[in-house]
Amino acid sequence: MCGIVGYTGVQGASPILLEGLKKLEYRGYDSAGIALVNDGTISIAKVTGRIANLCEKTNDGKDYPGTTGIGHTRWATHGAPSDTNAHPHMSNDGRFAIVHNGIIENYMSLHDELTAKGYHFESETDTEVIVHLLEMYYKGDIRKAVIKTSARLQGSYALGVICADDPDKLYVAREASPLILGVGVGENFFASDVTALVSYTRNAIYLEDGEFAEISPEEIKVFDVALQPVNKKISRIVWDIQAAEKGGYEHFMLKEIMEQPRAFKATIAPRIKEGEIVLDETDLSKEYLESVNKIVITACGSAYYAGCAAKYTIEKLCRVPVITELASELRYADPLIDEHTLLIVLSQSGETADTIAAMKECKSRGAKTIAIVNVVGSTIAKLADHALYTWAGPEIAVATTKGYTTQLAVLYLFSLYTAKKIGSISDEEFNRLLTALKALPKKIQETIDTNSKIHQLAIKYYDNKSMFFIGRNTDYAIALEGALKMKEISYIHAESYAAGELKHGTIALIEEHRPVVALCYNEKIMEKTLSNIVEVKARGADVLALTYKGNHQIVSVANDVIYVPKVDTLFSAAVEIIPLQMLAYYVAKLNECDIDKPKNLAKSVTVE
Ligand code: G6P
Repeated sequence: MCGIVGYTGVQGASPILLEGLKKLEYRGYDSAGIALVNDGTISIAKVTGRIANLCEKTNDGKDYPGTTGIGHTRWATHGAPSDTNAHPHMSNDGRFAIVHNGIIENYMSLHDELTAKGYHFESETDTEVIVHLLEMYYKGDIRKAVIKTSARLQGSYALGVICADDPDKLYVAREASPLILGVGVGENFFASDVTALVSYTRNAIYLEDGEFAEISPEEIKVFDVALQPVNKKISRIVWDIQAAEKGGYEHFMLKEIMEQPRAFKATIAPRIKEGEIVLDETDLSKEYLESVNKIVITACGSAYYAGCAAKYTIEKLCRVPVITELASELRYADPLIDEHTLLIVLSQSGETADTIAAMKECKSRGAKTIAIVNVVGSTIAKLADHALYTWAGPEIAVATTKGYTTQLAVLYLFSLYTAKKIGSISDEEFNRLLTALKALPKKIQETIDTNSKIHQLAIKYYDNKSMFFIGRNTDYAIALEGALKMKEISYIHAESYAAGELKHGTIALIEEHRPVVALCYNEKIMEKTLSNIVEVKARGADVLALTYKGNHQIVSVANDVIYVPKVDTLFSAAVEIIPLQMLAYYVAKLNECDIDKPKNLAKSVTVE
């Protein structure tokens, strides 16, 4: 939630800040602002709405000179989206300006304390307390003021500060919110994530919780709370610039859908060596895996649904019970977890607040944790005992696509790896499934190539207020993700239901021409799902069935059929989801929705 960026160097800071904010806009986009130090004073521009409005207001930054500055794009938590609530916020004496990503939980008491001391508040934000604390603690030493201020804050923050008294410097602090420092030559940067940095530098420093930095054009000094210097490693950013651009596609979401064959391959290929699966990043020994009596998978949103789909694969291959639990529920559930539980945490961003909290809770009860994460160096990756990265590259569209399929890729690898180690499948079965897994990138490509008619189906179905998605077992798990895609980007009410459960209530909502997307991939339970299709058809529904190529049984019962290649049912989620992503995309497009930045959503949900 919210993106922050900072620059100090020899170039005009404003255009660099605006470019950076454009890259970070997926993190929040209800208002934005920049602050520059110039000639010993701070000037601020803030607007409601998108970065494009800020570019217009500032004349693409030209009207805001200065070589040091900070910027912010907001996803509102405290206080409605408005010019006043937009960041940066300024101290009453005009000396400090700050940008903040996170939530200050004790802001009410700080607000009361500061008001009693005479500080005047402009906004309704939690953030504003920070800038007044800085003014209060500033006695000529900015570092000390930042440290004293941070010590008063409860909650999460990535904080960027400029001060009129020290015009070439940026000050940053971090606690439970992402913050990366970009190391340049004669110029330095900070940002919420690397997408804002890659156009300028590939050298990065990942700040840890509780660390502070003083950034000048020539150097970056990192300190701990006691103001002791901390030696930091400079890491190389591997994501390339093109990966963070649209590359000719109208939307990031479409580009990312198309990237799935490559992303899936990039995730599995390096981990398959000479007919074996190698998970070098973990130490999952045979003895340890045999001691595991339960696997718990936790995550939020699509990542959770990836876990729901893979549960069937893991249970089938490893014969270990898998419990899937939403992170926001698990964290407060007093879960039955001990050292015999293996916790798998899924997160594209690696920064989701509920997922982090659930993970900490389970760790404290003795579970070993594996994180399946896309963003290198993210909080979840660092907290986990082992991080298995999904090599999907940057995902910019708020609605995840390649993030989801690459999470499946790692979970499939994990299932086969574990099954082989504990001997729950034969070598022959392992080899057969490994071959099937290696073929999946091609099958995903084939799914994309043969589904040009999805656009036609979208034309038929887009003008609807409500849709249902049904299936059984894995098909049900995929229905959950298919419905989520539809609602998050097209704003159509889309409800997913276990097909067999329809008759216990939901079927009452089926009426003439209500679209029902029916997933019928699993041959073993095909007849059962077909019966459910017949039931909804009898009540007037228009059925859009999804099945494997060659299944002609379905033609007589469905209004329309989407065919995807036949793969092993254990891995079918990776192909079945593709047309559902495309359907959601085209339906949203026909409904003229803002596909990459759906209303009320943000990609990285760093608040509870
Ligand atoms: C948000 C995004 C979803 C994502 C979920 C979990 O809701 O809009 O696309 O699935 O967060 O995010 P994570 O980064 O933890 O996978």
